[in-house]
Amino acid sequence: MSRLTLTTRASAHAQGLTDRPAWKALEAHCATTHDLHLRQMFAEDTLRGERLHAEAAGLYLDYSKQRVTDETLRLLRELADACGLNERIAAMFRGDRINTTEQRAALHVALRAPMDEHILIDDKNVVSDVHAVLDRMAAFCERVRSGAWTGHSGKRIRNVINIGIGGSDLGPVMADEAMRHYSRRDMTFRFVSNVDSTDFVEAVHDLKPDETLFVICSKTFTTQETLTNAQSARAWCLHTLGDERAVAKHFVAVSTNAAEVIKFGIDADNMFGFWDWVGGRYSMDSVIGLSTMLAIGPENFRAMLAGFHAMDEHFRTASPEQNLPVLMGLLAIWNANFLGAATVAVLPYDQYLKRFPAYLQQLAMESNGKHVSLNGMRVDYETGPIYWGEPGTNGQHSFYQLIHQGTHLIPCDFIGFCETLNPLGGQHDLLMANLFAQSEALAFGKTAAEVKAEGMPTALVSHRTFEGNRPSNTLLAERLTPHTLGALVALYEHSVFVQGVIWDIDSFDQWGVELGKALATRIAGEIADSGDPELRHDGSTNTLIRRYRRLRHHA
Ligand code: F6P
Repeated sequence: MSRLTLTTRASAHAQGLTDRPAWKALEAHCATTHDLHLRQMFAEDTLRGERLHAEAAGLYLDYSKQRVTDETLRLLRELADACGLNERIAAMFRGDRINTTEQRAALHVALRAPMDEHILIDDKNVVSDVHAVLDRMAAFCERVRSGAWTGHSGKRIRNVINIGIGGSDLGPVMADEAMRHYSRRDMTFRFVSNVDSTDFVEAVHDLKPDETLFVICSKTFTTQETLTNAQSARAWCLHTLGDERAVAKHFVAVSTNAAEVIKFGIDADNMFGFWDWVGGRYSMDSVIGLSTMLAIGPENFRAMLAGFHAMDEHFRTASPEQNLPVLMGLLAIWNANFLGAATVAVLPYDQYLKRFPAYLQQLAMESNGKHVSLNGMRVDYETGPIYWGEPGTNGQHSFYQLIHQGTHLIPCDFIGFCETLNPLGGQHDLLMANLFAQSEALAFGKTAAEVKAEGMPTALVSHRTFEGNRPSNTLLAERLTPHTLGALVALYEHSVFVQGVIWDIDSFDQWGVELGKALATRIAGEIADSGDPELRHDGSTNTLIRRYRRLRHHA
């Protein structure tokens, strides 16, 4: 086993997770209940569908279609206690440096704390800093939205392009889609993330530089993709506007790194700052959400923050039995570690949430894709599952076949709303009928006897049988509002944290992205070298680079 030497605190898990009595009790319980079918569980407890639910911040969670008994839930709570979940939650809210490998707090909850709260880091109340930045953002957004902020040639800003990647892109992109109903329709919002030049070129192809504002979002302001696209944006702008001074009117930066922002040529007055205790994938409610606030306005943005905060308070104070993020986190542990599910499908039945699964991929997989525990030992259990998904009903005509009848167990999160923002005939009822039908079919299936009773030819009976017993959560809310979106995102943020606590990993670092970045920088140099540099990679990589150098066409 490999050990990473850290000067940080030792793991709270003195005992290995899988050696814990609570873990062993869950293993034994799983062995005895493994074959229990949801059909039987519902038949034996007619109130199950009403009983196994929890509700907070406008979200109703039905987890009765998970393969759990009351005993499973009790044992999972026992595991959470044994892993010190309550203390870890308190530590996060206190601003302790729970991101141990980077020695940082993970204090995204401070981003949505009301003004009168006090959260201290190094004896400084960060909540007042947060509100000062929010006020600056709001003032700026009002100026742009009202037309008071004009471009270099005096025209009002009609287009906003967010340039960023990872947490500086996925949250803003998701929110742009999710909040479109509340957005300014006379303004265009686009997002450039990929270093593939096509992304930038397509984003600006029909836009005029004198009406375009670029928001360069990068926590570090050293990210290769973002800085490269920002340089292209600058060149595109100046090509038409022809005056360096135009940068001040067409570029703003969102970053924690003032020195690099100034080095890039963006005036400090045009920079919105944040703090190292905001993780990239936990930052859509910080100033990284500037494009969101430009689109929906300060009032709606604050309503979204209130939704986040309502879920934070619920997470901090509710009992484990009623606590949505705790329940969802523990159910995810049960599915991943005891029922052996390697993935989770996130299935929003709302077109506005079409980028929600992509957003969750970074949140969950960059957070919990770790193979060593806090004390640096390789873990002997599975950690973060693979998140994926598409909006319903599109997924039904694509991959649901595998969820229903494939050999993999795929727990699903269904997300739906009682009211649509775009009523059109009976379409919303039809959409929701599909959501309810899918979770019902997955849970209860259709037995061979039922298929036979329908008169199916014997040869087809096994093909037409649905085993069922496929677990799902259903999240229902009244309607998709800024408040609901905030609550939904906070729910997943905290559920991911709960899982990380049980797995005893650092959910707030991301060292796994470093090796690829370093190699890409080295290879970029080798590709740019006009000589014939000696390549010292493996045989495959050397051959591919040589072939690329031979066949590429320079622009
Ligand atoms: O992919 C690694 C990562 O560091 C993410 O965690 C982060 O969200 C993204 O890159 C972008 O980083 P930055 O905001 O510093 O440009």
